[in-house]
Amino acid sequence: MIRKFYKSILAFALVANISFSNVIAQDAAPATDAAAATSAAPADGGGDAAKGEELFKNNCAQCHATTAEVVVGPGLAGLEERRDYAWIKKWINNPMAVIASGDKYANDLYNKYNKTQMTAFGAFGDAEVKAILAYVKASAAPVATPTTGTAVATAAPETGGGKFMNVILITLLIIMALVLVALIGVLQVLNRLSNGEGEHLSFGESLKANFKTIAANKTVRTAVIWTFVLLATKASFDGMYGVGVHQGYAPKQPIAFSHKLHAGEMKINCAYCHTGVYKGKQSGIPSANICMNCHNAIKRESPEIQKIYTAIETNKPIEWVRVHNLPDLAYFNHAQHTNVGGIECKNCHGEIEKMEVVQQRSTLTMGWCIDCHRKTEVNGKDNAYYTKLMEAHSQVSKGAMKVQDNGGLECARCHY
Ligand code: HEC
Ligand code: HEC
Ligand code: HEC
Ligand code: HEC
Ligand code: HEC
Ligand code: HEC
Repeated sequence: MIRKFYKSILAFALVANISFSNVIAQDAAPATDAAAATSAAPADGGGDAAKGEELFKNNCAQCHATTAEVVVGPGLAGLEERRDYAWIKKWINNPMAVIASGDKYANDLYNKYNKTQMTAFGAFGDAEVKAILAYVKASAAPVATPTTGTAVATAAPETGGGKFMNVILITLLIIMALVLVALIGVLQVLNRLSNGEGEHLSFGESLKANFKTIAANKTVRTAVIWTFVLLATKASFDGMYGVGVHQGYAPKQPIAFSHKLHAGEMKINCAYCHTGVYKGKQSGIPSANICMNCHNAIKRESPEIQKIYTAIETNKPIEWVRVHNLPDLAYFNHAQHTNVGGIECKNCHGEIEKMEVVQQRSTLTMGWCIDCHRKTEVNGKDNAYYTKLMEAHSQVSKGAMKVQDNGGLECARCHY
């Protein structure tokens, strides 16, 4: 009687553990990154500051902050109190010319910043310069203007990746094992009690006997069979979608380069280093020369920076370890997504600007690509060709035109 009761508890514990771990596995399943995909938030258009923000972020932010903080050049807060408009405009259009003209302020500044040359923006007219100044002023104001254009869908909740899952699974397995041992012990005691006279089986023998009783129990057998079925299903699903294969991969790099510092705190534009990202298939990893734009002057003495010099002197490229890698059979193009599709880096890569070491956040599986193509609308902004397509689409279908309506699910688009 009591034995039966304990045996069913054992069976229940098994089943409960298994299904529990599976539920968690489902919950933690990724593929939410793609869900956050939206096309870039439309530029606010309301006034100069919004335009200024865009100009500033794309051209100035890698060297200047809008506060008083020094990045590569001086912080621009309070600029208009220091300098008059005419000077600022001349400076932005051609800083070297202002310096060459003998302007004392400019020369002092130039020397103070170790003769770092600021890029010239010859094409900027009054509209651009004024827009930037408006933005600098607005963002210096204590009541922060709602930063337009950055109000984008937040990245997917970080699930903590595969590591967390493994910890949970292993813990559950250990608990299961402990429960099993404990129950066997209880069974043994009960056995002895119910048999009354101690049969004096050795520990090993009684263990064996107990295992036999357990194995003979229908409930336990069912539980074991179900466990196998569930695990096998999970394994094959994981295999099919490749879930978590490389997700979370964050190899150590030869130089302790930090995106958190460069892209996050210093706000260097991604495309300043990943020059191909809006133009071509590959984003590209920056060559040491790009680092030297700044590091020929900054932190020369750091051993990490010395590695950049060594790379240049010995003419050996820095051997960065590749993080994201699709198999050759699949075709992926950055420009198509960032430029044409208007998708932001973080929808696929997570918040790189917060990472000390780059980590793969999305699964990069076929299911992941397809899932986003099903959900995401084609970005028709400023694209006459798409506007026509969308008109045609709206005549045959009510919903918005998704990537899948434009061939985004055709095998040949992604496989040669
Ligand atoms: C490659 C880095 C770099 C970029 C990009 C850059 N600057 Fe500069 N800027 C500097 C440096 C360095 C100085 C300090 C003077 C010097 O060394 O030439 C400076 C000085 C200035 C000054 C004078 C500041 C003062 O306190 O008087 C202004 C104004 C300025 N930059 C505006 C801009 C604007 C606007 C942009 C974007 C359109 C921009 N800069 C882009 C590096 C840069
Ligand atoms: C100052 C230069 C610089 C800037 C700015 C920069 N990166 Fe990088 N990025 C690198 C370097 C160098 C590597 C290779 C080393 C590494 O992985 O950390 C890299 C690697 C990466 C990788 C991984 C590449 C791989 O091997 O799969 C991604 C993704 C990436 N960057 C995205 C971004 C995004 C998004 C931004 C803007 C928010 C950005 N980067 C800004 C220099 C830069
Ligand atoms: C736009 C300017 C700029 C560019 C481009 C740039 N860096 Fe930096 N980097 C900085 C600044 C500023 C610091 C912070 C220095 C400090 O801590 O005072 C820094 C710090 C670092 C550090 C930390 C050094 C230390 O010992 O604290 C490393 C490593 C580094 N950069 C590597 C790189 C590499 C590699 C590249 C090229 C892929 C690169 N940087 C490109 C401006 C730049
Ligand atoms: C639609 C998803 C998506 C978006 C958006 C995206 N990437 Fe990627 N990125 C990928 C995939 C997929 C790979 C792997 C490509 C491969 O292995 O061929 C990758 C690879 C990279 C790499 C590794 C080197 C290379 O040239 O492929 C870098 C660097 C990178 N991305 C940077 C960026 C930056 C910066 C942005 C934003 C401006 C961005 N990515 C936007 C999906 C994306
Ligand atoms: C975050 C969403 C997102 C993810 C993830 C994504 N894509 Fe896309 N993809 C888009 C959008 C949006 C477009 C449409 C761009 C345009 O307007 O042409 C697109 C277009 C494409 C196209 C061109 C299709 C056509 O219309 O001809 C190819 C090829 C493609 N993606 C391949 C991939 C591959 C391969 C992956 C996975 C490694 C992937 N994409 C992941 C959003 C995504
Ligand atoms: C949006 C892009 C995209 C489309 C559309 C697409 N695939 Fe894929 N496919 C991928 C990517 C990326 C991979 C590699 C990642 C992986 O193994 O999951 C892949 C992998 C595969 C693989 C190899 C799986 C493996 O485990 O190695 C096969 C087979 C395949 N695709 C067949 C197809 C067929 C058939 C179609 C049309 C019904 C199709 N694909 C449509 C992106 C796509």
